[in-house]
Amino acid sequence: MNNVQLVELAKEVRKNAYAPYSKFFVGAAAEFEDNNVFVGCNVESSSYGATCCAERVAIQNGISKGFRKLKKIAVVGTGNITYPCGICRQFIAEFSDDCKIVLGFNDKVVEHTLDSLLPYAFTKRSLDGI
Ligand code: THU
Repeated sequence: MNNVQLVELAKEVRKNAYAPYSKFFVGAAAEFEDNNVFVGCNVESSSYGATCCAERVAIQNGISKGFRKLKKIAVVGTGNITYPCGICRQFIAEFSDDCKIVLGFNDKVVEHTLDSLLPYAFTKRSLDGI
């Protein structure tokens, strides 16, 4: 799926974001192998630490369906281009070593590589000393 299409899906699911505390609404669309796309929005909790970011919800949806290789993820936040938080960058790294990260806001779409946002990532290879 092209970047604009993926951003559109992220924008659409952002409408379902449950963010009564921060009012910062986020949508994400995660593309796995064979063009399988899953969406997610952020889900907050009155126990703030239990909040789930949109990126992780989207990825977990794909994983739950049996997909394992993440190719690309689009993120649409609030007020400006929104970069994935540190935990989500690490979570993306679990399922891809060359993920493209697409950020959209209004008509703007920018693309980054995971490696540029999380250089020297700690991965499962690190556990083997590689
Ligand atoms: N959030 C995301 O869903 N993704 C991000 O990349 C940044 C932050 C959510 C978490 C929380 O619900 C709200 O945005 C404010 O941090």
